Amino acid sequence: MTLTLERQDLMPGTQLIGADWREASDERRLDVTDPATDAVFASVPDGTAADARAAVDAAHAAFPAWRAVPAKQRAAILKRWNDLMVAHQEDLGRLISREQGKPLAEGRGEVAYAASYVEWFAEEATRANGEVIPAPVNGRRMLALKEPVGVVAAITPWNFPAAMIARKIAPALAAGCTVVCKPAEDTPLTSLALVKLAQEAGVPAGVLNIVTASRERTPEVVDVWLADARVRKITFTGSTPVGKHLARASADTLKKLSLELGGNAPFIVFDDADLDAAVEGLMAAKFRNGGQTCVCPNRVFVQAKVHDAFVDKLATRVGALQVGPATEPGSQIGPMINARAIEKIERHVQDALARGARIVVGGQRLRSARCDGPNYYAPTVLVNADARMACSCEETFGPVVPVTRFDSEAEVIAAANDTPFGLAAYFYSTDVRRIWRVTQALESGIVGVNEGALAAEAAPFGGVKESGYGREGSVHGLDDYMHTKYVCEGGLS
Ligand code: SIN
Repeated sequence: MTLTLERQDLMPGTQLIGADWREASDERRLDVTDPATDAVFASVPDGTAADARAAVDAAHAAFPAWRAVPAKQRAAILKRWNDLMVAHQEDLGRLISREQGKPLAEGRGEVAYAASYVEWFAEEATRANGEVIPAPVNGRRMLALKEPVGVVAAITPWNFPAAMIARKIAPALAAGCTVVCKPAEDTPLTSLALVKLAQEAGVPAGVLNIVTASRERTPEVVDVWLADARVRKITFTGSTPVGKHLARASADTLKKLSLELGGNAPFIVFDDADLDAAVEGLMAAKFRNGGQTCVCPNRVFVQAKVHDAFVDKLATRVGALQVGPATEPGSQIGPMINARAIEKIERHVQDALARGARIVVGGQRLRSARCDGPNYYAPTVLVNADARMACSCEETFGPVVPVTRFDSEAEVIAAANDTPFGLAAYFYSTDVRRIWRVTQALESGIVGVNEGALAAEAAPFGGVKESGYGREGSVHGLDDYMHTKYVCEGGLS
C-alpha cells in the first residue's frame, strides 16, 4: 500500500547530488518496507561508489562559496528550513511512522524535536565567536578564529530518521561546512523529504547531498568517503563496532570524528526515591520509540527495600501499554524495525530465562488482529536479572526491562560502571548528598537525576568510553564542525 501525503513530492524517490535529483548510477533501486507488515510500500535509489564520489565532488565544489556566505544568511536559510519542517509536520510525521514504525504521535513529536535542532543551530550560527587573546608581549595581536572543517560525511541511523539528520546537518551547515549524507537503509524516505525541504529553504546546490543505499551497498558508499581526503569529518550515530571501523578507516586521512555509539544505560532506584516518579521516569525513558534508543535504560537496579513495591507498580504500567501499528490510534509501542531486531530481543529474553530470570509481564512476540505483522514484541519486565545475561551486556534495543536487586550504593555504582559503554545513566533519589556523589561516580556522558526525558537541543548529547566521542546539540554541537585557527599578527608596536 502506498503512502498518500498532502505533498506527495516530499517522496521524491531519487537522491540529491549537486543540483540534480537522480537515480543510482546503475539505476538499481532499494525497497522500503513498513515494519508493521514487512510489506514494500516505496523505493529509493540503491546508491553506488560512483554516486558517493559525485556527491563529494559536488560538496567540495560548493564549499568555498558556502563558507563565504555571511553567518546571518546561513542562519536565515536554516530558520526557513525549520519553518518548513514545522509547516509539514503532519506529512513528515507520517513518513517517519510508516518507515520506522513509531506511533504517529511520536512521529509528529520527532518532527518537532528535529526542528528544534535546526532552529537552535540557526541561532548558534551567528554566535560562532572566536577569541581575542591578551598577547604576552607588546606589538602583537593574537586571535583564535573559528573556521568550518570542510566537507562532512553524515551517516545516520534508523531509530530517529529526522532528528539525527537534523542534529548533524544543521550544525554542519551553520558552521559553513558542506555535507554528504547517507541515511539508514531502513528509513531513507524521511531524510529525502528533509533534504527536499532544505533545498526549498534555499540551501544552494552542492551544499547538501544525499546518497541512499542498501545494507549490502553501504560499505562501498562509505568507503569512498573514508578514503577521500577532501572529506574532513565523519559524523556517525550507530553501533560501536561500526564506529570503531570508521575511526580506524579514517585514520589515513586523519578526519575529525563525532561518534555517537551504543549505550548500556543503568537506571538506579534507591530506597529513598519517590517510587511513583521513578516508575514514570522509567516508562518515559525505556518505552520511547519502543525501547529503540541509544539512551534507553538497559539495566534497571532497584534497592532491596523498595524492590518488590517498585516492580509491582512497574508491571501494572507496562502491562497496560497498547501495542499496535503507527496508524492505529492509541498505539504506544509500534513494531520493531525488522526481523534482526526482534530476533535479538527474543535471544536476550531466552538467555535471561535460561540463566535464572523470571518474567513478570510480557516475554513473547505478539500476533493478533491489531498486531498483524511479524515484528511486534510484548512490553516485558524480567526480575532476577544479573550481569552475566546478554541483556545486561549488550543493548537489547526493544521493550524489555530487566530488573536487578541491589543492597548498597557502592555495589550499584560498581555494577552500573561495569560496562565498556557510557552514554546515559539515570538514578532516582531524594538525598541531596547522594545525588552529587552518584552523579560524579557514574561513568557516563549523560546523567538523568530524577528525570527520564533528557534530550534537548540546548544540551550536549554524547558518551564516554566505547559510547564514542563528540557532542551533538548545544554550543558544543556547533564547535564539533569547526576548527580553531590561531593568528598572531606582529610588528604592531
Ligand atoms: C539515539 O537514540 O541515538 C538518540 C536518542 C535521543 O536523541 O534522545
